Amino acid sequence: MRQLSEKIAAVAPSATLAISDKAKKMQREGIDIISLSIGEPDFDTPRHIKDACIDALNRGETHYAPSNGIPELLSAIGEKITKENHFSCRPEQVIVACGAKDAIYDAMEAVLNPGDETILLTPAWVSYEPCVQIAGGKIVQHAVNSKTFQLDDSLLERVNAKTKMIVVNSPSNPSGAVFDKSSMQLVADLCEDYDIYAMSDEIYEKLVYAKEHLSLAALGDMAHRTITINGFSKAYAMTGWRLGYAVAPIQIIRQMSKVQQHSVSQAATFAMWGAVAALKGDQSCVGEMRTEFDRRRKYIISELNRMGYETAPADGAFYAFVKVCGDDREIANRWLEQGHVATMPGSAFYAPGWIRLSYATSMEKLKEAMRRIRQLGVQ
Ligand SMILES: Cc1ncc(COP(=O)(O)O)c(C=O)c1O
Repeated sequence: MRQLSEKIAAVAPSATLAISDKAKKMQREGIDIISLSIGEPDFDTPRHIKDACIDALNRGETHYAPSNGIPELLSAIGEKITKENHFSCRPEQVIVACGAKDAIYDAMEAVLNPGDETILLTPAWVSYEPCVQIAGGKIVQHAVNSKTFQLDDSLLERVNAKTKMIVVNSPSNPSGAVFDKSSMQLVADLCEDYDIYAMSDEIYEKLVYAKEHLSLAALGDMAHRTITINGFSKAYAMTGWRLGYAVAPIQIIRQMSKVQQHSVSQAATFAMWGAVAALKGDQSCVGEMRTEFDRRRKYIISELNRMGYETAPADGAFYAFVKVCGDDREIANRWLEQGHVATMPGSAFYAPGWIRLSYATSMEKLKEAMRRIRQLGVQ
């Protein structure tokens, strides 16, 4: 057989899949596994959002739509960004994609040339690097402070003539940390001083507990060089709908649009009507989910700390990030094999020595998971 793509061969398979596949296999064998490994709200999509999608199907919204998204959704996103994220956004600056992940992929293809460097602030979510690699770019890692999970001037050391982009994800998956204004300002100054683009993945913006969410594009002139990524999966429990979006300067949106037109064409038409209802409808569902996540967050963090574990500042998202003594893969494996609790080793997120526990699961299951982990003794 002729050799397949070298570019794709160089992309590592998802590091999070190994443990989740093993957990699923154990579940199939009848073992009672508690999964704290997935990044997905355990709530159902709110009724009014589903109804809007069903209405759209019933009135025949089953055909192709404009590639960037239905005008009603582009306007709703533009209004939401201008009002809530405090930077001006016209519908032409928006593209709706098949999940935030797809928007990230389109953006990397749109901005990067072969050899361009992208600074990745670690710990970081698993898909940024493959998207950069597929676009021909190169990742340069920069670890945030491991106590505060904030940035300092050492970030400057990562910049050189090839630096084209920096990826910011606040609130962060996997750490749950939320960047302060000073960290955000540091990124903004760096981008403006060295003419760098920023990707600000704000998919967890609605899940911030004791702090305030800041949009990078709202700082100074940053809207002119920032691709803001967001979506419906986490805020509205719509992971399976595959709906996300990007807001960026028009030239970048035009480039992203070409990638989308020649790949997936568009997000599903009727699903986009559900997203219009999500943004325009009553937001109390978001508040209710956040309140429940907050209750679980307080519980799991205090339990872990009581056991003696150090945890990252859990100010946002739905993850507890726990420092362990020893090999995180081995410990996560032990928790799975002996405690029947599935978690994610930090190595998958460029953070060896840490383990990510998702609290997007019921309080009852969380309590049982904590009991099992406690029984195994501090690792
Ligand atoms: C930080 C981050 N960005 C983007 C995504 C992708 O979300 P979506 O379901 O909209 O593709 C995820 C999903 O886990 C995520 O954690």
